[in-house]
Amino acid sequence: KEKVILDCDPGHDDAISIILATLHEKVDIVGITTVGGNVSVEKTTKNALNICDLVGLNVPVAIGANRALTKPLSVAESIHGESGLDGPELPEEPTLNPIDQHAVDFIIEKLLESDGDIKLVPTGPLTNIALAMIKEPKIIPKISEIVLMGGGTFGNWTPAAEFNIWVDAEAAKVVYESGVPIRMFGLDVTHQALATKEVTKRLQTINNDVADFVVELLDFFIHTYKEVFDFDGGPVHDACTIAYLIDPSLFTFKHVHVDIETKGEFTYGMTCVDLLETTGKEPNVYFADALDVDRFWDLFDETLQKF
Ligand code: BDR
Ligand code: CA
Repeated sequence: KEKVILDCDPGHDDAISIILATLHEKVDIVGITTVGGNVSVEKTTKNALNICDLVGLNVPVAIGANRALTKPLSVAESIHGESGLDGPELPEEPTLNPIDQHAVDFIIEKLLESDGDIKLVPTGPLTNIALAMIKEPKIIPKISEIVLMGGGTFGNWTPAAEFNIWVDAEAAKVVYESGVPIRMFGLDVTHQALATKEVTKRLQTINNDVADFVVELLDFFIHTYKEVFDFDGGPVHDACTIAYLIDPSLFTFKHVHVDIETKGEFTYGMTCVDLLETTGKEPNVYFADALDVDRFWDLFDETLQKF
């Protein structure tokens, strides 16, 4: 079993990640930490708690940062709606409560008391992870791996930058320069995990409450991706991290150096992926470049059938 802390900003694809991780025997969720990103941290926390409730997941949920290290929060309501999880009906007030410890302190405590076997799985801006590394650098050698969704060789928020990195590029810089091994699922690979209408049709036949809920999430997500990007489907970006933990053979990787741009007028938040080794710098990232699409949806289907 992989011990993980899911650091997230649900978010349709974050919610789907939590759901996929919940029942899978290969994943052991130590806790969930929330961050402001797709919407404010109040909303991402509420959404995380509602998802836990829905799938019967009983793990600590800790509230994290609600802004980037050096600037105010920018949100993605155009993609995820005002609640961050528009589409399906969810309770106004979750029945579960967050714990009474800040996400950053939760991450630090769990890592320090671990045997170095916890993976961090950030699927939102990297603010909490950077803050934890700054507050307690002793955690850095304790992190077994950071399995993150972010970046890519092109952007979706600006021509150069992907949303999670763009929201807090300074935090991303801290994390990418920390020396911790990073498995990076950027847009190059997450756009291959495209939930189309055919996918939702298939998932509908599973016929349990959780699968139906995922279909409702995907219907909304597919709709906004059509409106905003004219895509014929919604990429379930964040779910690539969990799919990797369950079955690493679904992906191929390149071991490369990645720098984070924090100064560019047009390129702020860009992940500079040195695919052709032009910098001569030591690789710091396993960059996912291809996905076995058929097996990905098989795994998605099988995992939802467990509910
Ligand atoms: C990322 O941004 C968010 O909107 C998604 O949840 C995902 O983490 C994709 O760029
Ligand atoms: Ca996310």
